[in-house]
Amino acid sequence: MERGCPKGGCEVCGIFGYIGNKEALPFLVEGLKKLEYRGYDSAGVATIDKGRLFVTKCAGKIADLERELNERPINGEIGIGHTRWATHGRPSDENSHPHTDCTDTLVVVHNGIIENYLQLRRQLSEEGHKFTSTTDTEILAHLIEKHLKDNLESAVRLALNEVEGSYALAVLSEHEPGKIVAARRGSPLIIGVQEGETFLSSDIPAILKYTSRVIYLNDFEIATITGREIKVSNLKGQPVNKEITLISWDPESAEKVGYAHFMLKEIHEQPKAIRDSVISRVKVDEAYLHFDELNFTEEEARQVNRIVFTACGTSWHAGLIGEYLIEQFVKIPAEVEYAAEFRYRHPIVDENTLVIAITQSGETADTLGAVWEAKAQGAKVISICNVVGSSIARESHGVIYTYAGPEIGVASTKAFTTQLTIIYLFALYLAKKRGTLSVSEVRKMISDLIEIPDKIERLLLKEREIEQIAERFYKANNALFLGRGKGFPIALEGALKLKEISYVHAEGYPAAEMKHGPIALIDQNMPVIVLALAGRRYDKILGNVEEVKARGGQVIAVAVEGDDLIGEKADALISIPTTTEALTPILAVIPLQLLAYYIAVKRGCHVDQPRNLAKSVTVE
Ligand code: AGP
Repeated sequence: MERGCPKGGCEVCGIFGYIGNKEALPFLVEGLKKLEYRGYDSAGVATIDKGRLFVTKCAGKIADLERELNERPINGEIGIGHTRWATHGRPSDENSHPHTDCTDTLVVVHNGIIENYLQLRRQLSEEGHKFTSTTDTEILAHLIEKHLKDNLESAVRLALNEVEGSYALAVLSEHEPGKIVAARRGSPLIIGVQEGETFLSSDIPAILKYTSRVIYLNDFEIATITGREIKVSNLKGQPVNKEITLISWDPESAEKVGYAHFMLKEIHEQPKAIRDSVISRVKVDEAYLHFDELNFTEEEARQVNRIVFTACGTSWHAGLIGEYLIEQFVKIPAEVEYAAEFRYRHPIVDENTLVIAITQSGETADTLGAVWEAKAQGAKVISICNVVGSSIARESHGVIYTYAGPEIGVASTKAFTTQLTIIYLFALYLAKKRGTLSVSEVRKMISDLIEIPDKIERLLLKEREIEQIAERFYKANNALFLGRGKGFPIALEGALKLKEISYVHAEGYPAAEMKHGPIALIDQNMPVIVLALAGRRYDKILGNVEEVKARGGQVIAVAVEGDDLIGEKADALISIPTTTEALTPILAVIPLQLLAYYIAVKRGCHVDQPRNLAKSVTVE
């Protein structure tokens, strides 16, 4: 009977490897701890010591694995490790990685989906292979075993030529004890290079404390790593030359530096993240805007007659703001599409459509798929991305990086506000090239943006005030977020922040829609968070607040400083500094991030690693 999920085991995980002149185990455990945000329901390590393979793995968190290893350490100067986030196949000891072959002399760790795993499993079983798990990964161990004659790299290549789906993988074998073979297709894998030592990781922060010199593996590439050299080839066996990239992030920035959680640290990093994302791209006096990673000619900018944003989750909310900004400033049609919907509905795009993929990680499978679909349809594709060299960045025709630095907390905060910053700048860039904004208007709007980081710093001084509001409302199990205009995407984002880290059922809604259903939910147990931002619809929002109050609801209002009206009506008020209407969303989201954070903390939730979620969803 075939077990496992019908479509093959699916996992989003973290991989770490080490080969050098020191004991591998400490590096593996440390590396997996840094990757734990990617997935954390089981973990394991394997090393080779004096030609013999040792494996330790278990369900649970890295801390559980560490306890096991403290009792029974494994030695060796070469090893691989894995932390798993299972979406199919329950977390268990036998389903955790590394997986071994029939002889227990070869191991594999893997991130991705083997689409044809059931067919391969059937074929291998018929050939006598014995399986001990319900994952797709295990078939890789047996497939490599089947092809292993005298060269591990060739066996891996032959096996991968039979595999369909996505993978980032690493292999160890007693047959060639001084060698790690790694390969990738659709899931990230990075090699860290240091004198006499080589590291392997699913992402950069896990290797930053050891080296800032990295090699990005591309799809369909295989790396053979020994103590002396790193050889990269393609699936045909042809050598591939690789460059070493220097990473500018400092190791400190990937740590919590004294904050209780990565999320709180990253909320407080937003002023710096926005400054870093703007400063090298603008000259206020000259109303100058430049994106050096974007090969966009004036002609191409004028040719664009429609823009489609595509993303997932919080990045989709940034795209919705983008839709409003593009139509407001660039005067061309814009829309935002969920990546998973866009990629499968045969979208009508062409060479005059600019598709903008928004993604923090650059590895979200559906957004990557949307980029492939847009390119297949002939559209020009750029991405707004926070990870240099990530898959989506490299698949796009052009990329604009948000310089937010590593975002470790699963709940996206600084990546979101830097996405909004970049979208705002890009709208000004296009408007200037197309003449829909004058130079003086652009100059004024750039200077308005330059003031935003200071205004966020002023807002962050209200942290205690917001914590006190959280104290009043953290026991509620439902919440409604309402906004109009650009306040509506922020209502959606506030609801997502709250639900994903505190498990409170929260919904974002256009305030005008309240009367078309959600008003039936209003009672004293349903806090209603209202984005009462100034603008031409302000009086309508006041009306919504009164409708909520009239039904016994409790209102937390986010309003602009100096707004005395709302304060008389709301049960709690958070004031944000004034700014130009188009930049208000960047300020309005900050109190909602803090509110969600403190409610989650007071509810005893694991803020940085909320249940069932992973930082980067690299599976469909
Ligand atoms: C946001 O807080 C969530 N973690 C999630 O919705 C996230 O925005 C989404 O998975 C998209 O990720 P990306 O930006 O890395 O593509």
